[in-house]
Amino acid sequence: MNAGLEDVVAAQTVLSDVDGKNGRLVVRGVSLDDLVATSTYEDVLGLLFDGFFPLSGAMPGALGTARLAVFEHLAAADPALVALPPVDGMRALLARLADGDDLQSALRLVAAPAVFIPALLRLKAGQAALAPDPSLPHAADALRMLTGAMPTQQQAAALDCYLVTVADHGLNASTFAARVVASTQAGLTSSVLAALSALKGPLHGGAPGPVLDMLDAAASPERAPAWIAAELARGHRLMGFGHRVYRVRDPRADALKAALRRLASAGAIDPARLALAEAVETAALAQLKAKKPDRPLDTNVEFYTALLLEALGFPRAAFTGVFAMGRVGGWVAHAREQAETGKLIRPSSVYVGPQPQAAA
Ligand code: ACO
Repeated sequence: MNAGLEDVVAAQTVLSDVDGKNGRLVVRGVSLDDLVATSTYEDVLGLLFDGFFPLSGAMPGALGTARLAVFEHLAAADPALVALPPVDGMRALLARLADGDDLQSALRLVAAPAVFIPALLRLKAGQAALAPDPSLPHAADALRMLTGAMPTQQQAAALDCYLVTVADHGLNASTFAARVVASTQAGLTSSVLAALSALKGPLHGGAPGPVLDMLDAAASPERAPAWIAAELARGHRLMGFGHRVYRVRDPRADALKAALRRLASAGAIDPARLALAEAVETAALAQLKAKKPDRPLDTNVEFYTALLLEALGFPRAAFTGVFAMGRVGGWVAHAREQAETGKLIRPSSVYVGPQPQAAA
């Protein structure tokens, strides 16, 4: 039995390839390096959807229109829903979207996290939710709906780079959950709800908030090595390190670190915060290597995600929801790809419980 399904092939996909040995990510034939250098989130969405949905017209406009359509679902957001953690509030709002299979349903699902997360954060703070501006790029509009001000070009580019970087990543736990539900022909909304539920756990997309808790606790570059040693001695896992597939550095960590450096040169992030993160990373890598010499544990995407989203003004409780803002494009494309196979995913289990008593 293989409890974590490690190395088990459960799907054939044209969407993305994670090469864990060489630290390489390819999305529809384009390497992550090229993708972040040349593409917006809307471009990547066009790439992911190509052949799965009948794309007509420009993606930025279509996604903007979809943002406006989902904003209407906020009207009945009750206080109990607003009081939930942002990712749970968003899940409840997403469940209001009709379970279709067409392009409009797909676009509404992709648009939803960028509308719902900023709105829920504003409502929680006692402010009015801001309506989308369909003429803006997706990332810039999400930041404007969060803060109420137009983001700088560097801020919008940093969030766009993040969304591109996390848009798709092979058969990760949330994408697999989406494909399992899609294989029953349940529809795109049900598939995305399953994926979001899988994403929120700390072993998957729930890690970046705890990364900041770790930086706060480590407090200074000088104290970082001793703090990390104490955490590992207690048997705690270091958030933002290790990966099921990558045995070298996660290429997404480099893409995000480069985006952070660009923000730092624009004066949009405290250089002391970046220096603390680099000290924690260096100490963590050295100590993980000494503790687990046979298990390469390197920096994963969540480590620099935490700093990037903090610098853009998202509270740490909302980080998983922002992850969903990008990954939802991959979930929808994978759900569609799986549904088109017409094959139900239904693995087997080994029964280890008691057998019925033989009649006396
Ligand atoms: N810190 C300390 N030890 C670790 C870490 C870590 N971050 N990651 C793995 N290990 C250790 C485990 O304790 C285990 O040791 P053991 O064999 O003595 O019990 C060994 O390395 C192997 O760990 P597994 O959990 O079997 O490896 P798996 O491939 O299942 O785990 C995972 C991958 C869940 C990401 C793990 O590395 C982890 O928990 N990391 C911290 C959480 C995190 O950063 N999650 C985000 C992942 S990226 C993403 O999903 C977008």
